[in-house]
Amino acid sequence: MKKFIGIDLGTSALKALVCDENNKALFTIEEKYEVISNFNHYSEQNPNDWIIALDNVFKKINGKVDEIEAISFSGQMHGLVILDKNDIVIRNCILWNDNRAVDETNYLNEIFDKNKLSSITGNMAYAGFTLPKLLWVKKQESINFSKIDKIMLPKDYLVYYLTKKFVTDYSDASGTLFLDINTKKWSEEICKLAGISTDKLPKLVDSFSCVGNISQNITSKYSFLKNTKVIVGGADNAIAAIGTGTINEGECNISLGTSGTILFSNDNLIIPEKNSLHSFCHANGKYYLMGCILSAASSRKWWLEEIIKSNDYYSDEKAMNNARTNNLYFLPYLSGERSPHNDSYAKGAFIGLTSTTKREEMSLAVIEGVSFALKDSLEIARLNGKKINSATLCGGGSKSKLWCQKLATILGLKIRTLDNEQGPSQGAVYMAMLGSGIFTNLNTIKQKFVFYSDEYIPNEEERDYYLKKYDNYKKLYPLLKDFFKTEI
Ligand code: XUL
Repeated sequence: MKKFIGIDLGTSALKALVCDENNKALFTIEEKYEVISNFNHYSEQNPNDWIIALDNVFKKINGKVDEIEAISFSGQMHGLVILDKNDIVIRNCILWNDNRAVDETNYLNEIFDKNKLSSITGNMAYAGFTLPKLLWVKKQESINFSKIDKIMLPKDYLVYYLTKKFVTDYSDASGTLFLDINTKKWSEEICKLAGISTDKLPKLVDSFSCVGNISQNITSKYSFLKNTKVIVGGADNAIAAIGTGTINEGECNISLGTSGTILFSNDNLIIPEKNSLHSFCHANGKYYLMGCILSAASSRKWWLEEIIKSNDYYSDEKAMNNARTNNLYFLPYLSGERSPHNDSYAKGAFIGLTSTTKREEMSLAVIEGVSFALKDSLEIARLNGKKINSATLCGGGSKSKLWCQKLATILGLKIRTLDNEQGPSQGAVYMAMLGSGIFTNLNTIKQKFVFYSDEYIPNEEERDYYLKKYDNYKKLYPLLKDFFKTEI
């Protein structure tokens, strides 16, 4: 029976899922790595740490399977990976949640003009997107900039390592601000603005394209990869959506990972007014709209692991079941915020603490705050005419039944979870199956393999309470916006 590997190159770890052609999960492997944050608002990783993680995954698979038919990838979006002409990584990758490129973002939106940028790329600029970060390198690290021979996205670096093919797919390319989303070609105008030629950017292909086989220097170590086809894959949000079957017009997927995203699948390209949601290419050749918050499950992790110094999510959740937060609010802007505020200076906050506030109330406020932040994007989608009644949920946060239920009530959506929370690596397995030709379309894969395990419907008794609470939550950011910029 044919076997497939789906790799999710995430922010906290590289996760691998190995499945057979009936989609039976044979094993999952997770290799963790660190985010390097030497300065406030900086978020970097060394691409070679990803290669070490990938190699460790191969070591763990070695001996367990004879042959892998195809491998594919889901990768954290927007990361700036730059190589010199000897293919040496010039500097650490600047990640999607890095907030240093504030001046460059303002320049793009205000001087170059966000309407012009949007007419080319479908999006306005955000500090975490690739173009502003390249402009930052150009200005602050001119020697590094002058050495650039290749610019790629995180998962493309893995594909390059395996095949020496310098390629990317449209879903990841559309998150760079270099892609002309109308023609699906690299924009000459944007490249000129950035001071690079288009040949520094990878060749553009579909996410399900087979780019070749794995190079001999790797297959000599791992014979199970000898005839393995490499399917390029795509941006983690697009691939997660493939994993949860979010591929048709009107379908919605929510991911509670390090970031939190709410994604609306579209058949056609839509660019919302004021770019209030991101507009990207989907991995199925179509499009999606998305809101992205920078700290979702990572807010929960920060609160429990960093502040409470506990790993006991189970007991914390149990205690939360009886908690009520009334006037306690949490703003989840621990790494600044993308949707909807586009504010690198935004900060996290607990508001409404009293001498009787209990730990479990603070834990619950964190979950509510992240859910409210996602609701901001859902409300924008509704204002743009989207009629959404239900969503699938993936990512680490979906393991919490309490969070799933609160999210259903706060968003007013029916929330469905899948058997596993592996949206992105499962989606990458599907891309490997599609790209290697054992299936010819994603809807067939969806009908055969995508099954929901649990369903959560809004709790009517709490609905009014959370509507009022959300109204109050919305007032907090405007009140604090200027204060967030103050420093001592
Ligand atoms: C989306 C975004 C994040 C990363 C997380 O625009 O920046 O969701 O893709 O890996």
